[in-house]
Amino acid sequence: MNQANEKAMQAVILVGGEGTRLRPLTYGTPKPMVPIMNVPFLARTMERLYEAGIREAILAAGYMPKAIVEYFGDGERIGIKVTYAIEETPLGTAGALKNVEQHITGPFFVLNGDIFTSLDLTAMLRYHEAKGGAGVLHLIRVDDPSAFGCVVHDESGRISAFVEKPPKDQAPTDEINAGTYLLERGVLDFIPAGRPVSIERETFPEIIAKGKELYAYTTSDYWIDLGRPEQYLAAHRDVLRGTMPLAVEPGLSGEGADALRGHPGVVPPVHAGGDVVVDASARIGPNVVLGRGCSIGADATVKESVLWERVSVGAGAMIEEAIVASGATIGARARVPRGSVIGHDVEIDPDAVLEPGARVGSPQRTPG
Ligand code: GTP
Repeated sequence: MNQANEKAMQAVILVGGEGTRLRPLTYGTPKPMVPIMNVPFLARTMERLYEAGIREAILAAGYMPKAIVEYFGDGERIGIKVTYAIEETPLGTAGALKNVEQHITGPFFVLNGDIFTSLDLTAMLRYHEAKGGAGVLHLIRVDDPSAFGCVVHDESGRISAFVEKPPKDQAPTDEINAGTYLLERGVLDFIPAGRPVSIERETFPEIIAKGKELYAYTTSDYWIDLGRPEQYLAAHRDVLRGTMPLAVEPGLSGEGADALRGHPGVVPPVHAGGDVVVDASARIGPNVVLGRGCSIGADATVKESVLWERVSVGAGAMIEEAIVASGATIGARARVPRGSVIGHDVEIDPDAVLEPGARVGSPQRTPG
């Protein structure tokens, strides 16, 4: 891949949101650290930055920053210098940028911390260099733009309007703001300091209203926003099936794959961390991710689900299209149906039957 580092590009990653829609997972883990295929999502984002030649990241954090700081430290281990700006109160997606203004030395990428995409950042930089203007926004096309911010532009790519969450039949376009930007430093002048400011609702519209140029960079890359449990599961399914290009072996993958090979009840694709213990009569898959140290009891069934580390599934239990956070215990014969989300260290009683879409778990006493 071409490297973008001739100009020592920086990236600001917005990781300060509370991730309310992913609760109870985000009671114990901030959204950017939620694992994707057993690796914290933010670490995957950092890998993308590294591949694009970016060696400096500024993390605009706020909610549970400890987990993030402990994992990345100063970034030496991953080859990227990491600086943190921790907000006492959330400053919004533009306020967070204003808050790191002193660290910004030139044009910079901005990444929403919950976007999983195969976007090529180097190609986006080249596009910005060709177009000029105050910045470039990555756009993607969606079938139903009504839940997103629509972005209208002319044939040259110049953006003329932002329309937030339009009713489906009134959407001016199917192109939406995909949450990755490349901005000139001067954009920060448009952001008032000391109060929450939204980049989507306030700053971008103001920039174009003042006659400055923002350009659209529309691609057909893989793209998903991990904000809701259904999307989180969909992202895993897409990786397991090979729709999202991530370096994962087809079929059985992960450190624990060898333990599952030849198991009669395993239906690929399945990805397993190390030290998993699966009873010979259990049924696993398809589209399952097991975190390190999971144990699955006799006659238990796990399908279309993501289990984080050290989840214990009792004999005869059934988990389907669900997410189970680290340390949780699913009692024998319990039913954890479609859409269930089980928080950290939760114990589901034996024989319990959860409602579809159940969310079980509460805030931890000492959030990091
Ligand atoms: P929900 O509460 O479920 O809506 O999630 P969220 O709080 O993460 O909000 P949203 O998905 O809209 O945020 C998009 C991205 O911006 C995420 O990566 C958030 O971490 C980040 N973000 C949102 N608000 C702030 C903020 O006030 N400060 C910072 N630093 N980041 C933010």
